Amino acid sequence: MTVIRGATTIKQDTKEEIQSAVKELLDQIVSCNHLKRDEILSIVFSSTSDIHSYYPAKAAREAGFEGSSLFSAMEPEIEGSLKLCIRVMLFVERNIKTVPVYLRGAKNLRKDITQRMNIALDGPSGSGKSTVAKQLAKDYDILYLDTGAMYRACALKVLHAAIDVEDESKICDLMRTLDLNIEYENGMQKTILDGEDVSEKIREPHVSMAASTVSKFPCVRKKMVEKQREIASKMSCVLDGRDIGTCVLPDAQFKFYLTASPEVRAKRRYDELTAKGFSVNFEQLKEEIILRDKQDSSREMSPLKQADDAVLIDSSDMTIDEVVALIKRKLQEKI
Ligand code: DC
Repeated sequence: MTVIRGATTIKQDTKEEIQSAVKELLDQIVSCNHLKRDEILSIVFSSTSDIHSYYPAKAAREAGFEGSSLFSAMEPEIEGSLKLCIRVMLFVERNIKTVPVYLRGAKNLRKDITQRMNIALDGPSGSGKSTVAKQLAKDYDILYLDTGAMYRACALKVLHAAIDVEDESKICDLMRTLDLNIEYENGMQKTILDGEDVSEKIREPHVSMAASTVSKFPCVRKKMVEKQREIASKMSCVLDGRDIGTCVLPDAQFKFYLTASPEVRAKRRYDELTAKGFSVNFEQLKEEIILRDKQDSSREMSPLKQADDAVLIDSSDMTIDEVVALIKRKLQEKI
């Protein structure tokens, strides 16, 4: 038997707020823990005593969690505790490694504090994540894990096998034979696919779109997320991606969401690719970036999304150094 914990908060004690917060919380727990709804035996809620307007258990039933037994309780008032907070425990029969989910500013008060420092850096393509992450990793002497490279490697394998990037069933079969290793040389990540260093090949423009497409399939994500968690559990690192703060490491100590306008992001990608010798068309790049944003944010599983407790940074009018300095200030404030 496994118990998965989570919590969320609401702004006002209204039926609608409770319904939407409960739905979001349960959907995230299901997605991050790769659960099937029918394997959830029981869901137990406890809410702070300032919540009266509706029962979270009823909201769960309305959100489609009909097969589980549902229970709502009220917590006694505890001085200094979060206000308007709904906590939940999901009971699942099989034994799994759990990912607790804390949304809308709710906190895991029972966290086993570790000395590890994990920084989650999410955002759309071209937002400057990788440059910022590399700099932070260097300055703090911690590891940089480029999770996008891992999805790119999966895409490259699919392209090499001449499989249609939309063919989920063939891709899932292929993923069973995936041999992907992340290695480091002088602090630089090397992506090794089937024994070959593909760190350069995965940067080719046609791989970007394919990576965005294959990364929507649960069989691909599950495998990558497991690897990312394994690496992050062993050492301090800064991870950049789309779902680090929301799904891979929902408990990360530090979370940032970097964004910038599509024009600025396309210009950055254009400069980066032309500097590497690729011949690219700016307008086409911009269109691809917009399309990739749409695809990455609208997929069902772990879409690109700002975690509620992530600090939002719009870098449209900022230099990389300014972004790094801002992140360091925020880290310092929290430490
Ligand atoms: O960051 P990038 O451009 O190298 O990522 C390539 C694609 O991989 C991106 O369009 C979506 C996917 N991706 C993802 O789904 N989750 C991540 N954590 C990182 C990347």
